[in-house]
Amino acid sequence: MTLSLFATDIYRAKLGGPAVAALLGDLAATIRQLARDDGAGRRWSAENGYGGYTSYASLDDLAWRDSAVAELQTRLDKHVAVFARQLAFDLKGRKLTCDSLWVNLLKPGAQHTAHIHPGSAVSGTVYIEVPPGASAIRYEDPRLGLMMAAPQVKPGAPPARQRFVSVAPKAGEVLLWESWLRHDVPRNAAKSERLSISFNYR
Ligand SMILES: [Fe+2]
Repeated sequence: MTLSLFATDIYRAKLGGPAVAALLGDLAATIRQLARDDGAGRRWSAENGYGGYTSYASLDDLAWRDSAVAELQTRLDKHVAVFARQLAFDLKGRKLTCDSLWVNLLKPGAQHTAHIHPGSAVSGTVYIEVPPGASAIRYEDPRLGLMMAAPQVKPGAPPARQRFVSVAPKAGEVLLWESWLRHDVPRNAAKSERLSISFNYR
């Protein structure tokens, strides 16, 4: 027999709740308005090579500013609670809470290089607009840096055996993962912007 140990879970679900399409529309409008009006965020995006706009470094109170974001956060709380149970986290009766949340407008041709989300427990993204050809998100085997002489795996091997796994989200879907899991967003081959909202819980 073989034990399969040290699971790496990617949680994927529809956002759910009432009037999802209207909420996604409101969130798309919020993202586009921020991308126009947030000068500090536009500057940060340009200076840091982000192809498009992110509020990551400029705004930390979007749920307070915007009722659609507040509603989104309420729905995300439920998904994160389910995921925390799935991961068997011993939270001593407490809950993971949203520590940061930011919007992303990725232009055609842009990408986001590999990174982790330090200092948080669970991270994720909810997809607001995903045009045809838009980038997937790609996760990297967290043991990769330890594999000195490990052979490559066959292209047809199951996802749990692969070193890199891409997940192509649809609009209205939520992805969650543990914050230490390295991921990147390859070049956006869509003809229009890919809109998403990312967040950290701890
Ligand atoms: Fe990320």
